[in-house]
Amino acid sequence: MMFSDEFEARFAEMLPHYPTKRSALVPTLLYAQDEVGFLSDEVIQELAGRLDLTELEVRNVISYYSMLTTMPRGKFNVQVCTNISCLVRGGEEILHHCAKKLGIGHKGTTPDGLFTLEEVECMGACSWAPAVQINYDFHENLTPESMDSLLNDYRAKASK
Ligand code: FES
Repeated sequence: MMFSDEFEARFAEMLPHYPTKRSALVPTLLYAQDEVGFLSDEVIQELAGRLDLTELEVRNVISYYSMLTTMPRGKFNVQVCTNISCLVRGGEEILHHCAKKLGIGHKGTTPDGLFTLEEVECMGACSWAPAVQINYDFHENLTPESMDSLLNDYRAKASK
């Protein structure tokens, strides 16, 4: 398994900052996922070896965090929160609107590979509910209309 020079430089720089190798697992998984697109069997095997963990230990951590995935995703991962604050402020409406607009359900990916849709638990943006996270960016106080323009912005971004 080969990672880019950029990944290797980040990994080498980060590792000494942690008291044990295992503590570096989550950021290492995020860097690897950003590079490969998802956490493949090959990536899991490689990182388990580097951090002195079993593959099962790595998979257990991946299964805990919704931002980590072992399945390929679209270019933009649209995570819609439907937890309590978002729920009372229209989170479910946003989720159903996205599903209808994109023609996919929970964990589905559009045929053009642009969007994956996910219903997620609280992402810590309750004060600005309803909230959506797309890749690393937060979008808050959404309505079906503002969600539409957001999806259009991402579509336009992809065509540049
Ligand atoms: S409940 Fe949606 S961000 Fe907290």
